[in-house]
Amino acid sequence: MKFKRVLVTGGAGFIGSNYVHYALEQHPDWEIVVLDKLTYAGNLENLEPLKPHIEFVQGDIANSEDVHKAMRGVDAVLNFAAESHVDRSLLGPLPFVKTNVEGTLVLLEEARKVGVKRFLQVSTDEVYGDLHGLEHHSLEADPFRPRSPYSASKAAAEHMVFAHGISFGLDVVLTRGSNTYGPYQYPEKIIPLFITNALGDKPLPLYGDGSAVRDYMHARDHASGIDTVLHAGKSGEAYNLGAREQIPGTEVAQRILEALGKPRSLIQFVTDRPGHDYRYSVNPSKAEQLGWERKYPFPEGLAETLEWYLENQGWWRRVRGKREHQDLMQSWYVGR
Ligand code: NAD
Ligand code: TYD
Repeated sequence: MKFKRVLVTGGAGFIGSNYVHYALEQHPDWEIVVLDKLTYAGNLENLEPLKPHIEFVQGDIANSEDVHKAMRGVDAVLNFAAESHVDRSLLGPLPFVKTNVEGTLVLLEEARKVGVKRFLQVSTDEVYGDLHGLEHHSLEADPFRPRSPYSASKAAAEHMVFAHGISFGLDVVLTRGSNTYGPYQYPEKIIPLFITNALGDKPLPLYGDGSAVRDYMHARDHASGIDTVLHAGKSGEAYNLGAREQIPGTEVAQRILEALGKPRSLIQFVTDRPGHDYRYSVNPSKAEQLGWERKYPFPEGLAETLEWYLENQGWWRRVRGKREHQDLMQSWYVGR
């Protein structure tokens, strides 16, 4: 499948901006429109070097006028825009439903009207729920068992996407990516939070006993997986994207401290996250059969990411200096 003009929602966020960087390298002839509300997680600095090559529309995916404006003449939509942080969904779930569910529906409705060739929904392995105590790696046909307001909203959005494929014949594909890390990640998810805390000699708060495992995948691998599914995925199908890694939180913390030459005493075990999912793991064979392969094993990907945060201290210090970041640190971590 070929495209000329592509709408990337949430393109000023972490994975969206990594995708825009990747897409402009792979498809230099593309016209890329980015629609982003610029919430606390959106940052135009993430797209700074690419500004002359993209059209940016500031707007809300849940607002049909904004969406109408951004989708004009577009032949593919990639929906990255979301409220994406589990802890924030525990503090206040409503924006998760508004953006992740209602926003996805508004995009789908406009995509039908415009007659886009393909709609790609960026989803998550968290829709499968907790695999704690099992050897299993989630397969695309597995049932959904979301357990946090975040994953519940992403699962609801997926159902709406499938429904538009089935009921209205919209060409839809979905990706279910695993935990992602890399450049431009807002310092609230574990890896950028721990790197930037360690650089400031602040404690690394591990929930519970730190044994929960995630399948950490580099953002560039996630971007190439999404691009593969956009071009080669079968209409109406979902594809797992993961790195075949199983890394406990304790290992994340230890590797970061070791690489930065910081003491292990910075690790602090804190009260567990309510409803904490202790294991996610996907089987990405179906995406691999389309020709996708992940390039970054965790140690190499983490080393490259550490380098990026060391070289871009202005970026994360500005982000951490903002009220939205300080509010989260205060309301979620103080007294934990
Ligand atoms: P992020 O929080 O870094 O970025 C989200 C972006 O969406 C921001 O630029 C924000 O301004 C924008 N946005 C939020 N609400 C919006 C709205 N109503 N209208 C327009 N723009 C809006 O998120 P991320 O980590 O880059 O995640 C991107 C996508 O990938 C999400 O759909 C997420 O569910 C999914 N995902 C993330 C991970 C991960 O580990 N981060 C893993 C798998 C899937
Ligand atoms: P996170 O990066 O929030 O991603 P998600 O919950 O969406 O998978 O968390 C990844 C893992 O790290 C998860 O097991 C929770 C744990 N974690 C901590 O131990 N401390 C922290 O401060 C954070 C943010 C996460």
